[in-house]
Amino acid sequence: MEIYTLSLIFLSLILPPLPSQACHHIDHQSLLDFKHKITFDPSNLLQSWTPQTDCCKSWNGIACNSAGRVINLTRSGLVSGDDFILDTSMSGTLSPSLSNLTFLQLLDLSNLKDLSGPIPPQFGKLSRLTHLFLDSNKFSGSIPVTFRSLSRLQKLYLSNNMFNGEIPSVVSNSNGGVN
Ligand SMILES: *[C@@H]1O[C@H](CO)[C@@H](O)[C@H](O)[C@H]1NC(C)=O
Ligand SMILES: *[C@@H]1O[C@H](CO)[C@@H](O)[C@H](O)[C@H]1NC(C)=O
Repeated sequence: MEIYTLSLIFLSLILPPLPSQACHHIDHQSLLDFKHKITFDPSNLLQSWTPQTDCCKSWNGIACNSAGRVINLTRSGLVSGDDFILDTSMSGTLSPSLSNLTFLQLLDLSNLKDLSGPIPPQFGKLSRLTHLFLDSNKFSGSIPVTFRSLSRLQKLYLSNNMFNGEIPSVVSNSNGGVN
């Protein structure tokens, strides 16, 4: 090994880990696009999502990895803290831009009651998704066949909506937890 490589290895051993990166601009924009399609937010779930702030640091319901990529988005209608349960709601449709959150593992928009319209077929691009919770809303249309690309999906909750058509067998067979 060359001296240069050795000293790089040595440096990486003595230096503290890099601070977390700011929110990636693509993720920042896709979350703002999502917010833009929300027509009514009576519980102010998206109030902290403002363009000038860092989506990884100050936006409620967002978790990022150290590279500033969004991995979890949770705005579920049931917020349980230590001692309280707050029931919440939200109206609007799902922006296809959410599919640009390519590092997303958890998307929880369950029990917001009034989210409507179809699930964008582009969601099939969310290849790292392990948990998708959209239950207890007013989503309609059919489950996109592109969901067959979600090979890491472990839990898929879609119940209590207005979907029609069949659940693609690739989804219901291979991934167990369809509810
Ligand atoms: C993201 O969600 C997963 C699944 O619920 C959870 O295990 C993990 O702790 C969450 N990560 C962060 C950084 O909140
Ligand atoms: C985000 O997604 C939308 C819809 O899929 C697409 O039109 C747009 O070009 C994407 N933006 C980026 C920056 O990838």
